[in-house]
Amino acid sequence: MNVLMISPGFPQEMRFFTRGLAQVGAKVIGIGDQPESGVPEPARSALSAYVQVRSFTDEADVLAKVAEISRRASIERVECLWEPYMVLAARMREMLGVPGLTVDQTVPFRDKEVMKQVLDRAGIRTPHHYRANTVEALWEAVERIGYPVVVKPIAGAGSADTYRVDSEADLQQILPRLGRVPEVSVEEFVVGEDMTYETLCVDGRIALESVATYEPRALVMRENEWISPTTFVFRDPLAQEFDAGREMGHKVIDALGFQTGYTHMEWYRTPEGEAIFGEIGGRPPGARLVDLINYAFDIDTYAGWAEAVVHGRFTQPVERKYNAVWIFKRARGQGVIQRYEGLEYVLAEFGPWICAIELNPIGSPRRDWKNVLVGDGMVIIRHPDRDTALAMRNHVQAHLHIVAG
Ligand SMILES: Nc1ncnc2c1ncn2[C@@H]1O[C@H](COP(=O)(O)OP(=O)(O)O)[C@@H](O)[C@H]1O
Ligand SMILES: [Mg+2]
Repeated sequence: MNVLMISPGFPQEMRFFTRGLAQVGAKVIGIGDQPESGVPEPARSALSAYVQVRSFTDEADVLAKVAEISRRASIERVECLWEPYMVLAARMREMLGVPGLTVDQTVPFRDKEVMKQVLDRAGIRTPHHYRANTVEALWEAVERIGYPVVVKPIAGAGSADTYRVDSEADLQQILPRLGRVPEVSVEEFVVGEDMTYETLCVDGRIALESVATYEPRALVMRENEWISPTTFVFRDPLAQEFDAGREMGHKVIDALGFQTGYTHMEWYRTPEGEAIFGEIGGRPPGARLVDLINYAFDIDTYAGWAEAVVHGRFTQPVERKYNAVWIFKRARGQGVIQRYEGLEYVLAEFGPWICAIELNPIGSPRRDWKNVLVGDGMVIIRHPDRDTALAMRNHVQAHLHIVAG
């Protein structure tokens, strides 16, 4: 099968999905805005062919290039796991007549208001919400919903330009910053935990599921430099405590007509245990959550996704062995990384449970924590027992430090 893979080398996870396609026997034709020499391994050697485009934003040019490719090789699938170009991928599918999400089916995954409208109709509990593309509409939405609210771009990602607004003064303050956002979604602020629900689907059937939590909540970790963000994948996503979220996930996938591939849904678990919908992507989660899922269940969902896409099945044996967690560290101080504190203890005590440690090397400049989610370092740990895994997470969060100066 010939698969057209959009941006096979960027963002960083794409290279492993690209390799997965080749591993399960597909011929992978890459199309990207990087020069071929810039496509990182293991993606580059997984490609049968590569076409460079000037920019994915020049749709007409990209579609013309794809039409040209299809005259030389029959393209049977178009895959795009990178949020901004999912609609473009859908246009290619329509042009080539290949299966997968159409433009109309993709829009609800991209436009956060259309998404919630479709799900409202399906009886899913979404936060009270409005679309606003003028300042007046924004004020009106806030008036209707009542404080606190969340204001976010209609097609946002990574909590960029996303604000919690508690008062009129807050709203006045963020207005200038919204200048570059053409359209926003305004929502009731939901108190609770930030949860996720991921699936691998085959023909609309759920073949694998996973539940995780962001701790602290995504907005909080983005607003406070001193915090070490964490994501925790639960060993048992089928546990009763996640029933409400999982059932919501099933309904959401049904309502949106998602067929084959990875999905990444975010939901809120209120103190009363209610599940409230957050958002969903018809693509894998970013920010190393795929790696956590792989570590938790001892599987390779890069290849598993590819098997689903290419062969319409998912055959990896899934043993739910571990809870898996990553902790991202932001350096203390400015300048260049000088030393690590607390690393010896972590290595000595947690050694067998550590899956990965990636620390910004000593001597290199500290990174901008606002732009680089992983910050200056990442530790991945897994453990069969949830409390032990949580204790290790808490320790790394509080006692491992990267010091810059
Ligand atoms: N209605 C809401 N109530 C509470 N928190 C919210 C709400 N909407 C968004 N957030 C917070 O902001 C984060 C980012 O919003 P989200 O809709 O997930 O956008 P993005 O696509 O940027 O991830 C969420 O993970 C959550 O922490
Ligand atoms: Mg989100």
